Amino acid sequence: MSEEKQIIPAEPGNEFNRRAFFVKLGWGSLSIAAAGTAAFGYQYLSPNVLYEPSPIVNAGKPESYAVDSVTLDVNSGIYLIHAQEGFFALSAVCTHLGCLTAWKPELGIIACPCHGSKFKRDGLKIEGPAPRPLPWLQTWVSDEGDLMVDRSITIRPLQFVRI
Ligand code: FES
Repeated sequence: MSEEKQIIPAEPGNEFNRRAFFVKLGWGSLSIAAAGTAAFGYQYLSPNVLYEPSPIVNAGKPESYAVDSVTLDVNSGIYLIHAQEGFFALSAVCTHLGCLTAWKPELGIIACPCHGSKFKRDGLKIEGPAPRPLPWLQTWVSDEGDLMVDRSITIRPLQFVRI
């Protein structure tokens, strides 16, 4: 009994072409590698910049602050204070380890919730581990009549903005 292999010819137009398959697979792999290289190259060459918000804060119209008021702007971390002598701004960030302080109107002080530092309304330290007073920040009135504060510039105390 002889066993002969029977070769069945592929139908024309429907044949499985190994060479064409591997060529397509190779081009596909190269395309994916090129796209990955381009993406990493773009990321490598683009500047690695951390965009921070502007240090300048528009605190609004002076009329909106009553005399002898202390207003905490939580978002910008500043106090806007309308004293009898004029306006000034303090950093609300504790000089100990950077916690956000809070105005305690019943005590008339600024207190840090983290380690208990206390400050007067003009930023001077009363007690606690904070090594320095709360800094005064540069404050001015814009051409539009708004109070402006630059959180990046500290000034000597007692420089009031008089309107
Ligand atoms: S962070 Fe304010 S007392 Fe420590």
